[in-house]
Amino acid sequence: MDKILVIDYGSQYNELIVRRVRDFGVYALLIDNKFDLNSFNKDEIKGIILSGGPNSVNDSSSPKINSDIFSFNVPILGICYGMQALANYFGGEVKENAVKEYGNTSITYDESLLFEGVKKENTVFMSHSDTVIKLPNEFKKIASTKMCKNAAMECREKNIYALQFHPEVNDTLEGKTIISNFLFKICKVLKNWSIENWIEDKVKEIKEFVKDQKVLLGISGGVDSSVCALLIHKAIGDQLYPLFINHGLLRENEENLVLDSFKNKFNIKVYYKDASKLFLNLLKGVTSPEKKRKIIGKTFIDVFKEEASNMKDVSILAQGTLYTDVVESGKGGNSKVIKSHHNVGGLPKELGFKLLEPLNELYKDEVRELGRKLGLDDSFVSRQPFPGPGLAIRIIGNITKKKLMIVRKADVIYQEEIKKAGLDKKIWQYFAVLTNTKTVGVMGDNRTYLYTVALRAVDSIDGMTARAYPIPFDVLERISARIVNEVPYVNKVVYDITSKPPSTIEFE
Ligand code: XMP
Repeated sequence: MDKILVIDYGSQYNELIVRRVRDFGVYALLIDNKFDLNSFNKDEIKGIILSGGPNSVNDSSSPKINSDIFSFNVPILGICYGMQALANYFGGEVKENAVKEYGNTSITYDESLLFEGVKKENTVFMSHSDTVIKLPNEFKKIASTKMCKNAAMECREKNIYALQFHPEVNDTLEGKTIISNFLFKICKVLKNWSIENWIEDKVKEIKEFVKDQKVLLGISGGVDSSVCALLIHKAIGDQLYPLFINHGLLRENEENLVLDSFKNKFNIKVYYKDASKLFLNLLKGVTSPEKKRKIIGKTFIDVFKEEASNMKDVSILAQGTLYTDVVESGKGGNSKVIKSHHNVGGLPKELGFKLLEPLNELYKDEVRELGRKLGLDDSFVSRQPFPGPGLAIRIIGNITKKKLMIVRKADVIYQEEIKKAGLDKKIWQYFAVLTNTKTVGVMGDNRTYLYTVALRAVDSIDGMTARAYPIPFDVLERISARIVNEVPYVNKVVYDITSKPPSTIEFE
């Protein structure tokens, strides 16, 4: 399979670069600047993209060009910091601009293979304070803006191109065409990334990795772990031991639904462990979101270990970790840690198991496509994501049985009303949150001082970015009325309208 490597210099947009490339049917991978050359099959690598990043190349500690990239002998495209790092490497000069250029800017493109089919006068998204003020020898300018004379450069002989702006961001009007030109006109890469090819490769890889060992997989009933179970089951059959641990933070009646569907729909034997008492005891009084995640992650591993010791010969732990979990937990390279997703952040170093994470190169929508290809029905595959730490991160502050009851009941009403309004297929993810805020209300003729429930509903493709979904006001009013009437200890309902970024989807 042809591959494009994206070198991670720490930009928050670098996963978007990977996305854009994969959307063209080309496999892309985000890797650390200090990658191991031997871990790649050189024949597969058809191009390299250097991402943006928050540093200045003039700082001695900032990441510099790793000269190993040239040993692939493939075209290179630098973006933002990537352009500055290239200029610095080849003897140009980079300097801080007096004024930061941030946001949409008019640009004029010159002749270049990179800009074929793109309008000469255009709009791009800029986000930089350093600028290439002197081009390296052999490089020529191929675009400019009012504030930035060298907004793009190229050296055809070396097959190196660079952009000061971000083609991966939608605000760059013809950014996708520029990326497509790099892929197909310059790298001449083949569109051979597809889920079918991927399944074939992965099944082979899993078989080779597992051999005759037993694999323990924690399942939650969510799409990720279910797809993971089906994929591994396809490769190794009953050598897979799916273990469903009830951590006491599930939605209403969820454990029964999960057990039923695995048994009846997929005919896969599931081992069930109710550990809710242990989890809730350990979480008593804990308010920090990161601490909650770490405790849940660690306890999962402890329970897994204990269960595994009762299951003979289990030596591999499988997890449905996705690419977004890896990247957002800061394990994909240089990106900042946003949240330690429990399935990554909570893993102790001395695990005692080998780890199998067959989905860790895929985005959520790719996992859904994989699920469909593996025979899951659409209603299951398009279920909303539910986070590993469950309701623990939908109850702000400390967790109690009473609060769990409140958030469960509110969530059931929310789900029912959204379904009744015919919106359940349209909204990517929606759920109720119990805020830690109490407000004054009036019920009957009495003053109340009770909790506020927040409703969240978002539209998203892969969870990396999201927009609040505009639920019609009359539907919101109905949900609000039912929640304050039917759920004890609640007298106010609010609706969250922030997008991600700057917010996140969950509240913790
Ligand atoms: P955030 O809140 O990070 O959520 O914008 C993005 C997507 O990830 C889910 N999420 C998690 N999933 N473990 C998970 O397995 C976690 O710790 C976790 N935190 C958030 C969230 O529901 C959303 O779909």
